[in-house]
Amino acid sequence: MIHSSAPGKLMLFGEHSVIYGNPCIATSINKRLDVYLNDKNENGKELECTTIDALGINAKFPSNFEQHKFLNLTIAKFFEKYGQKNFELTTKPMPKGLGSSSAVVVAAVKALSALYNLTWSNDEIFKFSYEIVKEGQNGRASGYDIAVAVYGGTIRYENKNGDMKVKKLKNIRNLIAIDTGIKSSTTELVREISEKRNKYKEIFDGIFKIINKIVDEGEKEIMNENYEKIGELMNINHGILNAMGLSTYEIEILINGIKPYCYGAKISGAGRGDYIIAICKEQSKNDLMNYLRDRKIEAFEILPAEGVDVKFIKNL
Ligand code: MEV
Repeated sequence: MIHSSAPGKLMLFGEHSVIYGNPCIATSINKRLDVYLNDKNENGKELECTTIDALGINAKFPSNFEQHKFLNLTIAKFFEKYGQKNFELTTKPMPKGLGSSSAVVVAAVKALSALYNLTWSNDEIFKFSYEIVKEGQNGRASGYDIAVAVYGGTIRYENKNGDMKVKKLKNIRNLIAIDTGIKSSTTELVREISEKRNKYKEIFDGIFKIINKIVDEGEKEIMNENYEKIGELMNINHGILNAMGLSTYEIEILINGIKPYCYGAKISGAGRGDYIIAICKEQSKNDLMNYLRDRKIEAFEILPAEGVDVKFIKNL
């Protein structure tokens, strides 16, 4: 059996503007998506997984539709380029809103490249996965989530017309992922911001210029480990995202409520829901977690997470 896993992601600085060739900073998270190949035993049931029989003999899709679309595309690409093989692919899902689509593609590409005996570098895994995700999202995807899933850690990412640059930064302590409890659609919000940008071209050019400055300053403060300044920059970035129409009343209440415990907090990703990201004061971490628990708000501390990996396990 082949077992691969890839981490999810959250965005620290630069969402939306990264789509237009600008830089962003993102981090991998300690929630991973697992892919198992040729696991013919009962694991699928135990893990509440999605199992795909590659040749379609027994295609059963009990859980996440979005994930199936990307898995089908991935398998189809391998069949098209390297020929058909019969295998059973099983996934153990991760919570939504944390990059499960990119993680499933990267983990599946890694596992399948091993099955097809292709000794691909991380850059090759990135390239192959990015093509699949772009196709699945109708061409509008920066690919930062793929880069995080492949390389892991905290990265500065830029993709100007396919010229991709990844720079590893230091990991950040005391980052908290907080579930807003609202589901949002990245595809719709990306389309909405693109329409606004067409309408207010010069204003958005100005906004993206400021966000680029925030990314540059953010990188510097991450390397300096100056958490107070990282928090301030997150607050500024959030204010801009709010001005772009990406926050909601509920998100503002949540961010204002946690302010006393944090240096900063912001939307992370497309906006209007999913997870927000906060950097808390070391001495206030327990109080913050208690505050969120009392209000039944789902949250977890983001711990360092490696990029995609693969293992060969002997079937018993
Ligand atoms: C979504 O997580 C971040 C966006 O910038 C989309 C992308 O970069 O592909 C809104």
